Amino acid sequence: MTSAGSFYITTPIYYPSDLPHIGHGYTSVAVDTLARWHRQAGDDTWMLTGTDEHGQKMLRAAAANSVTPQQWVDKLVTESWFPLLRTLDVANDDFIRTTQERHEHNVQVFFQALYDRGYIYAGEYEALYCVGCEEFKPESEIVDGTGPFEGLKVCAIHSKPLELLQEKNYFFKLSEFGDRLLELYKTQPDFVRPESARNEVVSFVKQGLKDLSISRSTFDWGIKVPWDQSHVIYVWVDALLNYITAIGYGSDEETFARRWPAYHVVGKDILRFHAVIWPALLMAAGLEVPRGVFAHGWLLVGGEKMSKSKLTGIAPTEITDVFGSDAYRFYFLSAIPFGHDGSFSWEDLSARYQAELANGFGNLASRTTAMIERYFEGIVPAPGEDTDRDVAVQRTVADAAAAADAAVERFRIDEAIAAIWTIVDELNAYITDNEPWALAKDDAQRERLGTVLYTAAEGLRALAVLLSPVMPIATEKLWVALGAAESLGRLVDQPIRDAGRWGILKPGTSVNGLAPLFPRVEQPA
Ligand code: ME8
Ligand code: MG
Repeated sequence: MTSAGSFYITTPIYYPSDLPHIGHGYTSVAVDTLARWHRQAGDDTWMLTGTDEHGQKMLRAAAANSVTPQQWVDKLVTESWFPLLRTLDVANDDFIRTTQERHEHNVQVFFQALYDRGYIYAGEYEALYCVGCEEFKPESEIVDGTGPFEGLKVCAIHSKPLELLQEKNYFFKLSEFGDRLLELYKTQPDFVRPESARNEVVSFVKQGLKDLSISRSTFDWGIKVPWDQSHVIYVWVDALLNYITAIGYGSDEETFARRWPAYHVVGKDILRFHAVIWPALLMAAGLEVPRGVFAHGWLLVGGEKMSKSKLTGIAPTEITDVFGSDAYRFYFLSAIPFGHDGSFSWEDLSARYQAELANGFGNLASRTTAMIERYFEGIVPAPGEDTDRDVAVQRTVADAAAAADAAVERFRIDEAIAAIWTIVDELNAYITDNEPWALAKDDAQRERLGTVLYTAAEGLRALAVLLSPVMPIATEKLWVALGAAESLGRLVDQPIRDAGRWGILKPGTSVNGLAPLFPRVEQPA
């Protein structure tokens, strides 16, 4: 069984031949934020990401560039995919590449186990294949081509011609798992989230499942079927297995038992692979199914799903070079309800950056620390007696922290941020109403001034802790400016489930000046 408090979470492993765009970055920062939250809650956390390097798509791209597939993926992973993690401040615990020996070997172990258990057989196959999806397409996703592809059948997602494949394949007896899968969705209603994704998966499985072709013999860029060297394992089966080979399946049973099962966060484009095929493969092998699959929506640009193949792809650095990585993380995670589609626009990003980060949170942080420097020589004052208004702030902080933790449990990062933002709004209103600059002019109000500034500083302490999984850079600066690094230790070690407790920042702590957390930006052209 799984150890208590284990939290293992994954991103999809991306195809390295597409350059990273803001869609990949979206999934990765969402998973990173969830992982950081759980790590800070003291859970035994592990975050995995990686790259999916086999298959025909990769083989063809390498050939088009006159290099071997291995050279091709090595170059892309080093030059584009590792840097993406640094660009977005993703603190993954591991990065798996499907061309690594630790993966290839244990995929064969798994495949052999399925064969030995009687779930694989040889058969004939003829169907239309989309290399973009690396998938045989069902009738419902095949449409008539237009323009240069007039008269051809094309993929509804990629709008590119499908290829008719006829070959001898090995098949997985997926059709035998329909009832067990439906039982899983019923007894574990959270297995697929959100609700819309769950409904889609349930009705798909209810229509009846066909056996799945799981090997290919017309090319060899893949992992060999252990008992038949003339076949390579279907790239999607190879790819899904990364989630267990990376944590020791087949080689380190202790680590595997400690980590597995995982939560998988994926885009809704690859929901069926994760919520239907993947649990069926695990059931066939006698392993536990995942804890859950969360399918988020698509980033839309100009109303269309953003994608590199349709040339609407935006590189994450286009955003981070101007606004910084914290703003990237904050924007996508707060502006889009997690699980829904969301439209990206530069106008919306700039407007939220200015209103919420610069004027909202950033300004609160600078004016609070500046007033403590000005009126108390940079020493956090001791609070006097609380008024009802002060107690209301304390309650807002406690409620927001509890609501945010509950929202993170539901994978609703957007709702967590909205809850935390009630603290920003409340503190800004609190300062405006209490006018510390006016209190400072009256010696008789010295104690009241101390209470007001202590309340603002202690509220900022809670904000730094709660927002650290979302915006690790800005919150770290704030933490240092509050003098908390010295008196309370590292920000990432602050227990997030205690963040709403009042009175943690110690009076007497030295506050340092704070450069604007979210400086003015030149509008991108
Ligand atoms: O499918 N909006 O890899 P991939 C939101 N290798 N998210 C998006 C997006 C968009 N417009 N475009 C891409 C594969 N994504 C397989 C996965 S897993 C065992 C194998 C994100 O490079 C989203 O997470 O095509 C989506 O599911 C993923 O990138 C697809 O990445
Ligand atoms: Mg894709």
